[in-house]
Amino acid sequence: MSNPAVDTPMQPKTFNRIMLKMSGEVLMGEKDYGLDPAVVERIAQDIKEVVDTGTEVCVVVGAGNIFRGVSGAASGMDRTTADYMGMLGIVINALALQNALENMGIQTRVQSGIRMDSICEPYIRRKAVRHMQKGRVVIFAAGTGNPYFTSDTAGALRASEMDCDAIFKATKVDGVYDSDPNKNPEAKRFDRISFIDCLTKDLKVMDATAISLARENDIPIIVFDVKEKGNFARVAKGQGTFTTVTN
Ligand code: GTP
Repeated sequence: MSNPAVDTPMQPKTFNRIMLKMSGEVLMGEKDYGLDPAVVERIAQDIKEVVDTGTEVCVVVGAGNIFRGVSGAASGMDRTTADYMGMLGIVINALALQNALENMGIQTRVQSGIRMDSICEPYIRRKAVRHMQKGRVVIFAAGTGNPYFTSDTAGALRASEMDCDAIFKATKVDGVYDSDPNKNPEAKRFDRISFIDCLTKDLKVMDATAISLARENDIPIIVFDVKEKGNFARVAKGQGTFTTVTN
């Protein structure tokens, strides 16, 4: 399938404000667990490229590289406790990303959905908006601050609260396919797909709560491959390969 955006590249600054939603696994690179500093640095560089175009960026990360609430619950742990452990994992990832960005001269603020004032700011919507208006990258940590919600949902929630123009969902594939492209070589990629189709076809772009929130607030989700260096900025300019999920 051809991507119309490849033939008609948009102007460098296409979006005023975007949310980057990234799974924790992205930050572990080829490792089985934890953080790969080289990958964290490379992701920070990718974010810097987008910030340098004048687009305001906020970020939500997951914690699958450290602890997954769902797996903890599956192995017999109380679900609420497991989810709180996952949220603490997100804080670790957020601080690592903050550190890498600031090493590159990008100003950042981490705001947590669970108060931990010695470590970072609490989540205050209006303060987060001001930070971004001043060119700072705001990293939202600890998910929504509530158990039973995924970091995808936190991404869609904060993107709605921040009035973002789009959610950039960083994945290990270059868009949404009708089946897993790693398992099925015949899998077809969509250039564009509706929220409803994602939900009814159970395409696992993000979890259903996150997709519903994005749909209700009319925020497109742009699914792209973050493994490739520089791809975030490329896709943010409307170039390269990606899938747009819209109403
Ligand atoms: P403006 O001055 O409004 O542009 O924003 P600012 O974030 O620079 O001002 P502020 O004085 O609120 O913050 C100064 C520094 O303290 C920043 O690095 C903030 O991240 C940090 N900071 C602010 N509030 C908290 C907090 O509750 N906990 C922690 N750990 N740091 C905070």
